[in-house]
Amino acid sequence: MVDMQIADVQDDISSVLLTKEEIEGKIKEAAALIDRDYADKNVLLLAVLKGAVNTLVALSSQLHINAQIDFMSLSSYGSGTESSGEVTIRQDMAFDVRGRHVLIVEDIVDSGLTLSWLMDLLRRRGAASVEAFALLNKPDRNKIHVDVKYPGFDIHDEFVVGFGLDYNELYRNLDSIAALKPSVYQGDHA
Ligand code: PRP
Repeated sequence: MVDMQIADVQDDISSVLLTKEEIEGKIKEAAALIDRDYADKNVLLLAVLKGAVNTLVALSSQLHINAQIDFMSLSSYGSGTESSGEVTIRQDMAFDVRGRHVLIVEDIVDSGLTLSWLMDLLRRRGAASVEAFALLNKPDRNKIHVDVKYPGFDIHDEFVVGFGLDYNELYRNLDSIAALKPSVYQGDHA
């Protein structure tokens, strides 16, 4: 399979942050830990749409344990790109999480408010355990500490796209993670 690559969007990219190989390597490391930690548990992988889809596919295909998969679509409100922490459910998951071991799969932790809110919700719904894998974290933007058991990469506060992350719903199918040229997003920030 040939994915969209940097060369296909070269004019919009200022630098490549993480190559396909680096992303796959990190996900493989996390998958080995998850295989070990959930060896005797029936894990439910919960991906937050849409950004986490690429990460979910990459992670689940590296796992040797037999995992179930579900999705949730959330929206958070705030001014501009600053989240207020008020999260609403656009589309709820299909599984009942009572008594389940849930592993949330996220592409990025920015303020941390979405993931924190979702972990609290699943615990209130009676999940037996709630943990998270997040491919990216922007420490400079975190407003709240979230305990991510399986962290990926810490990155600087740049506007990044690819491997599920978008700008205006584009670049999600880029096979690596790259910083966008400021001229592309013209003053927006994410
Ligand atoms: C992104 C990301 C997380 C959230 C993180 O989703 O996938 O869900 O923002 O931000 P926070 O830590 O500040 O709460 P986004 O709302 O961009 O939707 P998308 O995944 O559909 O692109």
